[in-house]
Amino acid sequence: VVAAFQPKFMKGTKVLLTAGPTFERIDAVRGITNSSSGKMGFSIARAAAEAGAEVTLVAGPTPLVTPAGVRRIDVVSSKDMLAAVNAEVPKTDIFISVAAVADYYVLNPSEQKIKKDAHILTLELAPNPDILANVAGLAEPPFCVGFAAESENLLEYGEQKRRRKKLPLLVANQVQTAMGADDNEVYLLDDHGQHKLPRAAKLDIARAIIQHTAKLYREYHP
Ligand code: CTP
Ligand code: CA
Repeated sequence: VVAAFQPKFMKGTKVLLTAGPTFERIDAVRGITNSSSGKMGFSIARAAAEAGAEVTLVAGPTPLVTPAGVRRIDVVSSKDMLAAVNAEVPKTDIFISVAAVADYYVLNPSEQKIKKDAHILTLELAPNPDILANVAGLAEPPFCVGFAAESENLLEYGEQKRRRKKLPLLVANQVQTAMGADDNEVYLLDDHGQHKLPRAAKLDIARAIIQHTAKLYREYHP
């Protein structure tokens, strides 16, 4: 029987995902975040669980419902997400990084609500660590799948990101198409080249991503 036709083709495989945005605190009531519904990441978590994988989902703030059979860890900031991922990575076969992680955090967040006045408010932002690049750079990394959200030069920027972060697979999507929508259109970039998944519901795209990931994973870990 061909593997892809077996409904539980990921049985025994441990999959770790990040999804949704992160939120970086400015003060007691304000923060900086990214536009991310979490739908793509949650759909991939669901598709992996349907395929029989043991799935852990590290989720930033989102009202989405946890897919059946998925273990969920809620986080707020990028630093929380990094800590949760690092704790899980040693028991992970495949890491799929779908979260829209905030690239910067506020250097000195205020405990109290900052009062407004007529002046310009300056925030100091410092770069957050790249969670995916850290995991992919480990001596014995899990099989790493990255995402690239681009507003222009999708394939060129996507392939650059894949090489820079040393990823066997990267899913590139156009922010104008993907953001908040129920469907998506993506390119799979791997060592064999580019492969387009035409516009479809995010759950169908997610199932195709999981099939491709499982196939490549077996290629790398025969
Ligand atoms: N990522 C991450 N940790 C970060 C930033 C990004 O794990 N601090 C992951 C994302 O989950 C995604 C991939 O890296 O899988 C690419 O994210 P993206 O924002 O598209 O690219 P960046 O490398 O952050 O570059 P830029 O935002 O400048 O395009
Ligand atoms: Ca980024």
